Amino acid sequence: MAGRIDLLLKRIGISIVCRALLCGCSDKWSEMKNLKEKIIQADSLEGLEKVRIELFGKKGLLAVEFAKLKDVPGPEKKAFAEELNENKTVLQTAFDTQYQILKAKEIENILQSEAIDVSLYSTLSAKGALHPVTETMDRIIDYFVALNFAVESGPVIEDDFHNFEALNLPKCHPARDMQDTFYFNDGGLLRTHTSPVQIRTMMATKPPIRMIAPGAVFRRDYDLTHTPMFHQVEGLVVEEKGKVSFANLKSILIDFLRYMFGDVKVRFRPSFFPFTEPSAEVDISCIFCEGKGCRVCSGTGWLEVLGCGIVDPNVFKAVGYEDVSGYAFGLGVERFAMLIHKIPDLRSLFEGDIRLLEQFR
Ligand code: DAH
Repeated sequence: MAGRIDLLLKRIGISIVCRALLCGCSDKWSEMKNLKEKIIQADSLEGLEKVRIELFGKKGLLAVEFAKLKDVPGPEKKAFAEELNENKTVLQTAFDTQYQILKAKEIENILQSEAIDVSLYSTLSAKGALHPVTETMDRIIDYFVALNFAVESGPVIEDDFHNFEALNLPKCHPARDMQDTFYFNDGGLLRTHTSPVQIRTMMATKPPIRMIAPGAVFRRDYDLTHTPMFHQVEGLVVEEKGKVSFANLKSILIDFLRYMFGDVKVRFRPSFFPFTEPSAEVDISCIFCEGKGCRVCSGTGWLEVLGCGIVDPNVFKAVGYEDVSGYAFGLGVERFAMLIHKIPDLRSLFEGDIRLLEQFR
C-alpha cells in the first residue's frame, strides 16, 4: 500500500516529505515537512539561515537522522537511507530556491536604496571652470577665427633675430629697454612678445597672410598690473601692395573691441612701435565710469587696450617680402581679462588660489 501511494505521489510531484506525512509516518517526517514550510516562508536571509542550521547544521535534524542509520536493522537500512537522502535532496532544493529568491530580493533592495539619480542637479559637486585668462583668450581667438584668421604659434624660447632684429629693433635700440627679458647663456631668450610669430610665419609662407598668434610672453616686470609671464595675441594681415589700409585696421579693431567690451567708444592715439609705421595705441571709453573719469582710468575716461599699426617696410625687408602692405596689432590677454572681470591685482590670477578661481565657475 505504502509503495503504491509512494509511486502515485511521486508521479503527481508531491514531495516525499508530504508523503511521509500522508502516510502517518514517524514524527521526524512531519518535522521535516514543517521545516520545508519554514524554508518557503522565510522572508529574510537571516530567517533562512536559522532554518538552515536547524536542518543542515552539525546538530540539525538531518544529522540526527543520519546518526540513527547505524541502529536501523539490516533489512530496513537501505530503505531508510534512501528515504533520508531523498528528503535531504528535496529540502536542499527548497533551501537553494528560497535562498536565490531572497538574495535577489536583497540585491534589488540595495539597488533601490542606493540608487543615484544621475539626472538630479547636485549643488555639492565641485565643478571645474576655465581660468579667466584661458576663457578670454578663447573668446579672442573665436572672434578672429570667424573672420578667417589662421592661428599660428612659435617657440617660447626665441632668438634675438626673431624677437628683436627682424622686427626693426636693432641692438642698442632704446625700445628694447621696455622689453627687458630673461636670457640664456647661448643667446636665446624668453620671447617678450608674440610679434616674432609674425616673422616666423612670413618666412615660412608666401603672402597673402591673415593670422593671429596667441601665447605666453615674458618680461622682467612685477607689480599690480604686470607679471613676469603673461599672454598676448598678435595679429597680422599682409596683402598685395596697396590692398591694405589703416582704415581696414581701424574697422576690424573697432568691431573686435565692441565684441569684447560692449558698446564702447574707441579712439586711436598716435604712438610708436619699431615694427609699425604709422603706429597707434587704441583706447576704449572706460567701462567702469562710462568715460566720466574714475580711479581705474586715472580720471581720463579712457582705458588703453592694444597697440597696432601699418607694418614697417623694414620688417618686410627682413623677411624678404616685396610689393606687399600689411597691418598688425598686439594685445595683452590679462589686461582684457582684468577689465572684463574687474580684477584689481593681475598677480592674483597666477597664485592658483581656488577661492578666486571658484568665482569664474
Ligand atoms: N609687440 C607689442 C608689445 O608687446 C604689441 C604690438 C604693438 C604688436 C603694435 C603689434 C603692433 O603687432 O602692431 O608691446
